[in-house]
Amino acid sequence: MTVRITVDGEPVEAPAGSSLTAAFVGTRRWRLRDHPISGEPRGPFCGMGVCFECEVTVDGRPGVRACLERVAPGMTVETGR
Ligand code: FES
Repeated sequence: MTVRITVDGEPVEAPAGSSLTAAFVGTRRWRLRDHPISGEPRGPFCGMGVCFECEVTVDGRPGVRACLERVAPGMTVETGR
């Protein structure tokens, strides 16, 4: 079953219960933030909660690792781009 979430103000259909990273990859969103010093694009790397490269803001909670967060109906996600 797919549900609708909002990513950077855009509606996105994603499989309920999948990881946010899977939802991003499914919509070809690889760039989730920019490195604070170099400005280089950053995105999911390990996929298992270790590297912290996938941090996004979910429903106002900053620093959420997208690979560990499950898609839920109506959630609002902001990337750090
Ligand atoms: S991809 Fe490494 S912590 Fe999420």
